[in-house]
This record gives sequence, structure tokens and C-alpha cells, in this order.
Amino acid sequence: MQIAMFSALILLGIVLLLSLYIITKTLKERLFPNPHLPPGSLGWPLIGETLDYLGTGLAGEPDRFVRDRMEKHNPQVFMTSLLGESMVVFCGPAGNKFLFSNENKLVNLWWPTSVKKLLKSSLINVVGDEAKRMRKILLTSVDPDALKRYIDRMDLATQHHIRTHWEGKQELRVHPTVNLYTFALSCRLFISIDDPVHISKLAHQFDVFLKGVIHFPVNIPGTRFHHASKAADAIKEELRSIARHRRAALDQKIVSPTQDLLSHLLVTADASGKFLSESEIVDNILLLLFASHDTTTSVITCVMKYLAELPEVYKMVLREQVDIANSKVGGEFLKWEDIQKMRYSWNVVSEVLRLMPPIRGAFREAIVDFTYAGYTIPKGWKIYWSPVSTSKDSTLFQNAEDFDASRYEGAGPAPYSYVPFGGGPRICLGNEYARPQILVFLHNIVKRFSWGLLTSDEKVPYDPMPAPSQGLPIRLKPHQSSA
Ligand code: HEM
Repeated sequence: MQIAMFSALILLGIVLLLSLYIITKTLKERLFPNPHLPPGSLGWPLIGETLDYLGTGLAGEPDRFVRDRMEKHNPQVFMTSLLGESMVVFCGPAGNKFLFSNENKLVNLWWPTSVKKLLKSSLINVVGDEAKRMRKILLTSVDPDALKRYIDRMDLATQHHIRTHWEGKQELRVHPTVNLYTFALSCRLFISIDDPVHISKLAHQFDVFLKGVIHFPVNIPGTRFHHASKAADAIKEELRSIARHRRAALDQKIVSPTQDLLSHLLVTADASGKFLSESEIVDNILLLLFASHDTTTSVITCVMKYLAELPEVYKMVLREQVDIANSKVGGEFLKWEDIQKMRYSWNVVSEVLRLMPPIRGAFREAIVDFTYAGYTIPKGWKIYWSPVSTSKDSTLFQNAEDFDASRYEGAGPAPYSYVPFGGGPRICLGNEYARPQILVFLHNIVKRFSWGLLTSDEKVPYDPMPAPSQGLPIRLKPHQSSA
């Protein structure tokens, strides 16, 4: 009882101190505003415009927050306040181009404190040359050369998942089921774990980590961040032990250096011959699990939603995938070349990424005072960009509200208007990896089933990534002779 009261008092103290700090900071900005700042509003003290930002996401209209303000204040840049930070939002293709081209010159990557604390030695906590070095090493494990070796394993894992979780079922909820798939696949390809009991133990810890990773960074018992820190510690301990055993096995040459992402990271050095430290390897694997998990789950779920709603599109995807399946001889797995043939299917995924990008936006920090579109952006201010500032703009995408996979044929969208993976030196590290991961799943699922939605007009809130409110319940209809 006494311990609980003591914890509550400490929590109250921290919250008060934090509030005082933010109030002082925001009061200064409110009472003595820089007259050259972009137009906009800092909203309410402390919370700024965060509630509207979160509310539009939960209502399934993530573009409204940005597009309403572009209309009201300025279509190029406006000021707001989110997560207790004064912020400037860069909009349109010109805003995207400016930010993606000025990394390390005028801006640097920024992530909320909770994320930085839990992924301390990872890529998202480094900038400049150190980020370049780390990205280069990490890329060796997810670039096309490495991916070519993963495709048959992705296919095998997907077939196993579908046999276990889809076949024989008449109805299921897509989002939680796909969630199992993406996590198990990452465990297999990143650290070669395929024991279901081990995976489910890790999955439980990972869920707790996910719930607190973007939260107030208050680390005392009872808070979400505290639970997430504990879960992160447990996962890291496990990863550390796996890495040590693997290093020993690599030294004895009893495993392949290209077996999985972990082996790649253990054997790859930078140009000066320096390897990643054990903490860097462990934290980066946790980062990759974090960055790849909900994003891919959300995209696959949304693709399945659109395919159920658009039978013509489903038929064309099916035709493409059946042609590829027919070109294989008895039980042969998919190869890299097959993924390159899935052009129409990837255009469909691309259109889903335009209409429902899993990442609603990302952050930067101004590292010097600079001017943009005639306004001053003060050093230290946070900057936000979002793929939705362009993705529904009818001057950039004809009939922008309509689903049209043909937009990606030929030259495709105008530069910097279609940016679900970001751009520039901090573009999504897994953008090449995400493609086969999604397409191999799509190949295996359309080849076996068509499906119908059991709930019409199911909302797809962003919290923080798009996930249908009821998990997308569907009725499965197996094809007469499924492969
Ligand atoms: C369709 C799925 C995905 C989408 C739409 C997506 C999108 C994004 C976006 C928008 C960013 C932020 C870029 C910025 O700050 O400007 C990002 C960063 C990142 N993503 Fe992805 N992502 C996806 C899947 C993946 C996968 C599968 C992996 C790992 C295998 C991954 C790893 C990363 C990493 C490590 C970063 C941080 C890069 C850095 O800071 O240098 N992502 N992603």
C-alpha cells in the first residue's frame, strides 16, 4: 500500500515537473512568438493540437489534420504543436523534396524520447556519418542480394502459416491472423527461430513493448513505458544470448554467414574494418522487428480489404499469380525473378500504400535556423512531414479518391508526390524487403482463396497504424482446386 502511494507520488512529481517545463517553454513561444514563423496555431497549452491529430487518425481520416490546415493556413508549411513539441509541418512535393534533400545540412532525424530510450544503440539514435555507416551495414542484410536468398524461405514460411491458420476455416479475422504471420516470418528470417512456443513467448513480450514504445517516457511501475522497458530488456537479453551462440557457431564454421540477418550483422564490417557492437546488433534487430511488424501487417490487411471490395482488381491479381504458379514445376518455391513478374499485384499494393499509408508521418529536427517559403524555422524546432499531404491531392493524382492501380504504369506519379516510404538518406531501410514479404503472402493467399467481408463499412482507425476496428472479419471461399 505504502509502496503504491510512494510510486503514485513520484509519478505525480514527474508529471508536474514535466508539465512545468513544457508550460514554460510553450508560454515563451506563445507570449513572444517569432513574427517570421509559418502561420498556424500552437493549440492548447501542453497538449497543443495533439488531440485533433490523434482524433482524425482514430476516425480513419489521417489526411484531414494536414489537409485542413494546408487549406486554412498555408499549402506549403504551417505551424502546430504535437506531443508537447512546437512543430512545423512541411507539405506538398516541394516540402518533401526540401526535407529529403537537406538531411544532415539543415535537419536531422528526430524520434519521440520513448522510442529513442528503448532503441538506444540503434540506427534511429544516430545521425550524420554514424548513421551512414550503420545504414550501410544494416542494408547488407535487406538489400536485393540478401533478399534473393530469402524468397524461397518466405514462400515456405507463408505456406506453413496458411496451412496452420487459414485452411479449413470458414471465417476468420484478417488483422490478428496476419499479425502472427509477419512476426513469425521476421523471427525466422532475422534470427532463425521457428519453434512456435519460442515465437509465441517473444510475440507476447513484443506486444507489451509495442504498447509502450510511443508513449510518455515515465519509467515507474504501472506505466506503459515501464512495462515496455521491461519487455524490451527481456527481448534484448534473449537476442544477446542468441547472438553469442551464433558468434561461437560462426567461429567454428558450423553455420552460414548468410543464414539470416543476425549472421549478416555479425560478419559485416564497415569500410574501416569496424564491426557493430553487441548492443548495436541487439538494438538494431529490435528496431527492425518494430519497423517491419505493424507496417506489413497493416498493408496486407488493407490489401485484402480492397481485394474483397473490388472483384475486378482481385481477378487481375489472381490471373497474374496463377500464371506465375503455373510456370512452376511440382512444389518449386517462388524465386526473386517471380517477384519481379508480379507487376500488377505490386501496383495494387502501391495504390493501397497511397490510400492508406501505414506510417502517417515522420519527424525531423532543425539543426540550424533556416528559411523555408519565406518563413523562419528556428533551430531545435521539430518538423513533421506526411505522405498524406500529397497522396490525395487531385492536382497530383487524377480522381485521387478512386482506387486505380494503373497510375503506377509508365512514368508513375510526379517526383516527391508518392512517398509512403519517405525519401532521401533516411528513406525506409526495409522498402526492398517489404515488397517480397507482401507479394509472397498475396501470391499464396489469392492462389488458394477468394473472400468476402463479413462487416460492411468497417472503420479503419489509425492507432497509430491503420487497423480495421473489428480486425477485418471475412468469409473464406477456397478455390475448387487450390495449389
Ligand atoms: C510497407 C511497409 C513499410 C512502410 C510503408 C514503411 C515506411 C517507413 C517510413 C515512412 C519511414 C520513415 C522515413 C523517414 O523518417 O523519413 C521508415 C523508416 C524505417 N523503416 Fe520502414 N516501412 C515499411 C516496412 C519496413 C520493413 C519491412 C523494415 C525492415 C525490414 C523497415 C525498416 C525501417 C527502418 C530501419 C527505418 C528507419 C530508417 C532510418 O532512420 O534511417 N520498414 N519506414
